[in-house]
Amino acid sequence: MDSSQDTDHTDHTDRTDHTDPAPDPHRPDTDPHHPDTDFIRLDGVEKVFDVRKKTGFLRSERRQVRAVDSISFTVSRGEMVGYIGPNGAGKSTTIKMLTGILTPSGGRLRVAGIDPSRERTRLAQRIGVVFGQRTTLWWDLPLIDSYRLMHRMYRIPDTRYAENLDRCVELLQLGDLLDVPVRQLSLGQRMRGDIAAALLHDPEVLYLDEPTIGLDVVSKVRVREFLRDLNADRGTTVLLTTHDLSDIEQLCRRVMVIDHGRLMYDGPLTGLHEIGESERTLVVDLERELPPIDVESARVVKVEGPRQWLAFPAAQSAAPLVARIAAEYPLVDLSVREPDIEAVISRMYAEKATS
Ligand SMILES: Nc1ncnc2c1ncn2[C@@H]1O[C@H](COP(=O)(O)OP(=O)(O)OP(=O)(O)O)[C@@H](O)[C@H]1O
Ligand SMILES: [Mg+2]
Repeated sequence: MDSSQDTDHTDHTDRTDHTDPAPDPHRPDTDPHHPDTDFIRLDGVEKVFDVRKKTGFLRSERRQVRAVDSISFTVSRGEMVGYIGPNGAGKSTTIKMLTGILTPSGGRLRVAGIDPSRERTRLAQRIGVVFGQRTTLWWDLPLIDSYRLMHRMYRIPDTRYAENLDRCVELLQLGDLLDVPVRQLSLGQRMRGDIAAALLHDPEVLYLDEPTIGLDVVSKVRVREFLRDLNADRGTTVLLTTHDLSDIEQLCRRVMVIDHGRLMYDGPLTGLHEIGESERTLVVDLERELPPIDVESARVVKVEGPRQWLAFPAAQSAAPLVARIAAEYPLVDLSVREPDIEAVISRMYAEKATS
């Protein structure tokens, strides 16, 4: 159940060409004086995997995959940061290093002053992790039994456990699900169950790796609201990996983009849109079929019966555009679609190549 099952057989930890000072065996490798601005700190962190590829009968070729390539950043206590990038970019590998599941091949990494891979158990008391693709809950047990086991595993004081459980059950609407075996839960229900499980011990940091993957719109909204409140009320530091830019748009003021193991951008989402000159899409449902909407700063890209799609610069707010359309057209419904991450990143490259 624990993510420790995720042992990394090809872990390449014997590389020593990094900047970490030699460890002192008599002193725990922690820095109690880390300031809140350096709550999470990575300096030139690398992860190299040794991969064996079969090339013929009894023959194989060794190859190295540099999943994370000299990444440096800091996250302040209480920040909520998006960590995005295309498939295979190195996001999950970074998160696994931040939890101590994987040991970096190089560089220096600290979370709350703790070296995750050396003091994984101690760090576990202070962090929570949700891997959207995989559950940390016991598959055959009712949800509540998983929570009871965590209560004991993390040695959570009874009153705190009861308070946290009540809060999660209420806010994540788990009341009717507590007695249901995890394998019978829908994806969205299971995800909410996993988020609660990650929070029962009051972690200061929550890592979320694709928490909204495969969820329907209603479940997404519920999960986002919960995370926003958690960050605002409890000051929990959140690092969020997602393929859904609207998660970032709604939750994170800061976003980091990783591609081929390298950090390509660190700043506000609007800045990313400006660099990539990306466009968002306003989907408008009118009362009836009408000619393409004629409005300043947006252009109609598709019409299907009473529904029209308008592209507008992503860095621009949708509100004035919506107001203008609502004033002149019989509007029934609308929604805003974010560009997909792959499109934003490829435009970012195109921009860099021409500038
Ligand atoms: N245990 C492993 N052994 C060998 N290679 C690995 C291992 N884990 C990850 N990789 C490789 O490292 C690279 C980064 O993978 P990672 O899972 O971090 O990407 P990601 O950004 O999370 O992608 P996705 O969006 O698909 O989840 C990929 O090329 C992947 O194949
Ligand atoms: Mg991943």
